[in-house]
Amino acid sequence: MPVIANVLDYREAARRRLPRFLFDYIDGGAYGEATLRANVDDFARVLLRQRVLVDVGKLDTSTRIFGRDFAMPVGLGPVGMTGFFRRRGEAQAARAARAAGLPFALSTLATCSVEEVTAAAGPIWYQFYMVKDRRFTADMLARAADQGVEALLFTVDLPVPGTRYRDERSGQAGAPSLARSWRRARAMAVRPGWVWDVGVNGRPHTLGNLAPTVGAGVGLDAYWAWVGRNFDPSVTWDDLADLRDRWRGPLILKGVLDPEDARRAVALGVDGIVVSNHGGRQLDGTLSSIAALPAIAAAVGRRTRLLLDGGVRSGLDLLKALALGADMVLLGRAAAWSLAARGEAGVAHMLGLVGAELRAAMAMTGCLATRDAGRHLLVGSEAEADVQEGIAKPAPQLMSTAE
Ligand code: FNR
Repeated sequence: MPVIANVLDYREAARRRLPRFLFDYIDGGAYGEATLRANVDDFARVLLRQRVLVDVGKLDTSTRIFGRDFAMPVGLGPVGMTGFFRRRGEAQAARAARAAGLPFALSTLATCSVEEVTAAAGPIWYQFYMVKDRRFTADMLARAADQGVEALLFTVDLPVPGTRYRDERSGQAGAPSLARSWRRARAMAVRPGWVWDVGVNGRPHTLGNLAPTVGAGVGLDAYWAWVGRNFDPSVTWDDLADLRDRWRGPLILKGVLDPEDARRAVALGVDGIVVSNHGGRQLDGTLSSIAALPAIAAAVGRRTRLLLDGGVRSGLDLLKALALGADMVLLGRAAAWSLAARGEAGVAHMLGLVGAELRAAMAMTGCLATRDAGRHLLVGSEAEADVQEGIAKPAPQLMSTAE
């Protein structure tokens, strides 16, 4: 096990632990992965103001969102197939989140069902894909409500699956074939720790939320075939309006990158928006999440709760997102890597690292409470009044959404 000092060390630990096709599935993005890189790189270009001689002996990271109190403005975002990274992975990650006082969002395409995770960790958030089989959709909403799901994240940036070259090459994606099975078997054979933990002890190897529809006792390929048949590229704003009528609890639209879409979502009554490009896994060559945030905050920040994901790798990134208008940040790969490397303990440790980094960043910017974070924390904020404050050297794409 390598020394773990930060989130990226967990990436390396996960690389050593997972079969190649699973590591690449987590790590990779769409097409040439430019947006995936920009999600991370653009954070480095947001500059914080260093402030001194402020009494920072007491810092408050807590937050209240969707009617609940959390220890800090961080949640674990939905990640499909997490139970293939570690035995019953969603249950482990949800337990770590709960112990840290943070929300956990379960993917529709999770290994563990909403019932299994709720039994293991108490009430959670649920991520929802609307599929062609609308009976499944209705049943799934009822199951989520039965389990006391506290917020519904409706993901809308996946009208079609992303084009991910790494998954093709590794054997993660593609039609079942002997060559693909052979590639995957070879990748598993060199990861005996994973084989024992997940392959032997992590059963059933299915997608739990779909099991009542797809059927018990069939292999994972049958599940993916169902998903392939049921992805619905015809979902529109009318479906969001319909969902708003049917789901009484907090409804959060995940995958918004454009201020016009954000306005429309708010007009339809959503309670929150996740500014997101699906971690660079869908449309490549679009804005990074952090670059998209200021214009969306300017458009709707006062009328809804704004979450952001994509490229958050530290507590420093977290503070920058808050400064640019986010109310909360979701972690995708950071959680997947730490879970793959060390299970529940890894996620707990990673969240502790991010929390410590956040507190240190708050102390050195003179920010006493996360709820007070704003653009005054960023370089340039006093001189400029427009939404580009804080971006030291705006690149063209960072300016394009200015309003
Ligand atoms: C995801 N993401 C995702 N989102 C979603 O709404 N439903 C899902 O099932 C999945 N599955 C998934 C699998 C894997 C392996 C990854 C890495 C991501 C997207 C996720 O919720 C989030 O938007 C991004 O991961 C955020 O970017 P970072 O934090 O990974 O950079």
